[in-house]
Amino acid sequence: MTRIVTVISGKGGVGKTTTVTNLGMSLMKQGLNVIIIDANVTTPNLSLHLGIPFYPVTLHDVLKGDADPNQAIYEHPSGLRIIPASLRTEELAETNIGKLNRVLFNLLGKSDIIIIDAAAGLGKEALAAVNVADELIIVTNPELPAVTDALKTVKVAEQFGTKILGVVLNRYRGLKHEMVIEDIQHMLEVPILSIIPEDIAVPRSIASKIPVVHFSPTSKSARAFNKLAANISGTEFVEKQGNIIERLFGWMI
Ligand SMILES: Nc1ncnc2c1ncn2[C@@H]1O[C@H](COP(=O)(O)OP(=O)(O)O)[C@@H](O)[C@H]1O
Ligand SMILES: [Mg+2]
Repeated sequence: MTRIVTVISGKGGVGKTTTVTNLGMSLMKQGLNVIIIDANVTTPNLSLHLGIPFYPVTLHDVLKGDADPNQAIYEHPSGLRIIPASLRTEELAETNIGKLNRVLFNLLGKSDIIIIDAAAGLGKEALAAVNVADELIIVTNPELPAVTDALKTVKVAEQFGTKILGVVLNRYRGLKHEMVIEDIQHMLEVPILSIIPEDIAVPRSIASKIPVVHFSPTSKSARAFNKLAANISGTEFVEKQGNIIERLFGWMI
């Protein structure tokens, strides 16, 4: 059975796309068959994180009814499969995100898990990604505006009746001005699946267009993303420390 998991946040820029690429790649490294989908059709950037910005057939073509979902599946050199959205602004007017459920229906049985990168906010685009999901992962940062938007997302998910797997607390530094983990948990009342530290390896990996779990597998953020993946697949998390050579040149391995 294919699990459909949407990654959503309310607030923009908190780390949804980073979570989608890294969770997808980590689950793939576990041996799962994964497809990641960019459902942020107005401001897509999943394909940019993977370094393949231009695709002949995209989710937009599928939503318009001009292509079959299978024609829009591409394989990243790492083996991760992606359905990208188009970066062309001309496509926007004709795109009906409401048809996303039909796209998903056509993909059932073609992978173990489909991970959807939702748009920011809680507008039509983001809600379409909630509507098609079996389960949700909510990404937030340890600051009140992000956690408040995460709380709104929890409430919306409850209205939809969609199962919330929990929260990814991203960009955590443990500084005095940050919200305390217990307060975040108390406010959201959902489990914290993983705490991803603030890590320079993340923007470096994005610039290199390789998810950090592959780019720098022994970095602290990669380990936290691997922990998240283990949590999602229900497997035991095995901490990979790596030797000095791996830590310095992990991206080459
Ligand atoms: N754990 C992290 N450590 C450092 N920087 C991060 C981390 N997670 C995300 N970022 C930075 O935040 C930016 C926004 O992340 P992104 O995943 O694109 O957010 P969203 O998809 O929610 O808009 C990225 O470009 C990256 O540079
Ligand atoms: Mg994004």
